[in-house]
Amino acid sequence: MEKKIKVLLVDDQLDFINGLARLLMAGFQDFDVITADGGKPALALLEKSEVDLLITDLQMPEMNGLQLMTEIHRRYPAIKVIILTGFGTIEKAVEAVRLGAYDFLTKPVASEQLYRTVGKAADFIRLEWENRRLRELLAGGGKETLLGGSSVIHQVQQSIQAVAGSDYPVLIQGESGTGKELAARMVHRLSQRAKKPYVAVNCPAIPDSLLESELFGYSRGAFTGADRDKEGLFLAANHGTLHLDEIGDISPSMQTKLLRFLQEGEVRPVGSTRTLATDVRIIASTNQPLEKKVEENSFRADLFYRLNVIAIHMPPLRERSEDIALLARYFLEKTLAEMNINGMTIEPEVLSYLSTKEWPGNVRELQNTIRRLVVFSGRENITMASIQRIEAPGQPTPAVLGELGPYKSMKTLISDRFSRSYIEQLLTATSGNVSEASRVSGLSRVAIQKLGLRLGIDLGRFR
Ligand SMILES: Nc1ncnc2c1ncn2[C@@H]1O[C@H](COP(=O)(O)OP(=O)(O)OP(=O)(O)O)[C@@H](O)[C@H]1O
Ligand SMILES: [Mg+2]
Repeated sequence: MEKKIKVLLVDDQLDFINGLARLLMAGFQDFDVITADGGKPALALLEKSEVDLLITDLQMPEMNGLQLMTEIHRRYPAIKVIILTGFGTIEKAVEAVRLGAYDFLTKPVASEQLYRTVGKAADFIRLEWENRRLRELLAGGGKETLLGGSSVIHQVQQSIQAVAGSDYPVLIQGESGTGKELAARMVHRLSQRAKKPYVAVNCPAIPDSLLESELFGYSRGAFTGADRDKEGLFLAANHGTLHLDEIGDISPSMQTKLLRFLQEGEVRPVGSTRTLATDVRIIASTNQPLEKKVEENSFRADLFYRLNVIAIHMPPLRERSEDIALLARYFLEKTLAEMNINGMTIEPEVLSYLSTKEWPGNVRELQNTIRRLVVFSGRENITMASIQRIEAPGQPTPAVLGELGPYKSMKTLISDRFSRSYIEQLLTATSGNVSEASRVSGLSRVAIQKLGLRLGIDLGRFR
C-alpha cells in the first residue's frame, strides 16, 4: 500500500470544509484528511501531526490564510499550500501564489477543478518523496541496488534474494547494459560471503594463453618468466565469490578446466602437480545466448548445465519501460551529485519521451543519455529542447567523438600511439560501454578488449 498523503483543510465555515473533506476522500483513496476551523487551531494540529498538503481559506477571522501560509512556510517548508478564495478576491490568490502558494481554487469549488488542482499537487508531492528517496539511496554510499518497480524487475530482485542464500553457481544472462554486473555484486553482497572477497574477471579481456594462469595461478618454473609461485584469482576469491564476466567467449580448454573446478572444487596451478582445495562461489554472466552456443557446439553442454543451476535473466529496458522514468531521475540525481550541481530537474514531458525509446544499450545507454543531457543543458532544467540539442542531426553524440575527426573507422589506424588515444577517446565518449564503443567504431567487442589489454588500458577506468 502506498504511503498516504496527509491533507489539512482550514476554514472557519465548518460545513464547507466537511463537504470538501468528503469530496476529497471520495476522489482520492490515498488521502488522509483532517480539518481545522482557523489558523491557530491549524498550527496547533501541525505540532502533533505530519501534513503534506494544506488547503486553506483566505479570509478568516483572527489569522487569515496568507498569514497562516507564511507561518507554515517558515516552520514546515515542505508543506504545499493551496489557497481557497471567494470570487471577488482573485488578485489576493494570485498574490498568494506569488508568495509561494502551490496553487489556488475559487469558491464555490467545482469538483472537477478541485480534483485537477489537488491531483496535480499530490503528484508533485509523490515526486518529491521519490526524489528524496533516490537521494537518500545515493547518499547511502556505494550500496547500489537494482532499481525498478516493474513486475519483471521484481522477479529479478526476488531471484537475487533467493539465490544469495545458497552456494550454487549462478548464470546471469541478458543483453548488454541490463545490469548483469550489478546483479552479480548484489548476489555477493546479500550472501553469507559478503564480507569475503568478490573478484570479477572480464574473461575476453585476458588472452586465452594467460587466462588459465590468471585464474588458477602457476608454480615456479611453469613457463619462462615464472620465477616464483603465483596465486590465481580462484585463491584470491577463496571463501568469497568469483564473477566470470562474458563467459561465452572462453576457449574450449578453459571450459574444460572450469568444469573440473565445478565438479571437484579444486584448482591446479599451471605447471603444478598439486591441486588446491578452494571454496569459491561462481557467478557467470554473458550477453550471448549460451543455449545457442551449446547447440552449435562452441560451448560445452556439461559446463552449461553446471553453471546454469540457477539462472537469472536480466530483462532488456524495452520490456520494462515503466521503470525508465524512475531510472532517469535516479541517474539525474547521481550525475548532479557527481558534477556537484544542485536542483536541476527533468520535465515530465522528457520522461515520457525517454520512456518510449528503444534503448538497445539498455540501462547503461539511458545513464549515458542523462549525463549528456545534463552536460548539454548547461544548468538549465532538462526540457525537450535539451533532447533536440543532443539528438540534432550532425550533432556528435557524445561530444568527444567529434574530436575523432575523420578516423571514425579503425581500419585506417596503424600506430599503437594512435590506437591508444583512439581507444581512450572512444571509451571516454561511451563511458566505458564496450558495446557502444564497438557500435561506433566498427570494431568487435573482443577486439576492443584485446586492444585495451595489449596497450595496457584499463577498460574499467572509463565507467
Ligand atoms: N536496475 C538498475 N538500477 C540502477 N542502476 C542500474 C540498473 N541496471 C543497471 N544499472 C546501472 O547501469 C550500468 C550498466 O549495468 P551493468 O554494468 O551491470 O550492465 P551489464 O549487463 O554488465 O552490461 P555489459 O553486458 O555491457 O557488461 C551500471 O552503471 C549499473 O549500475
Ligand atoms: Mg558487464
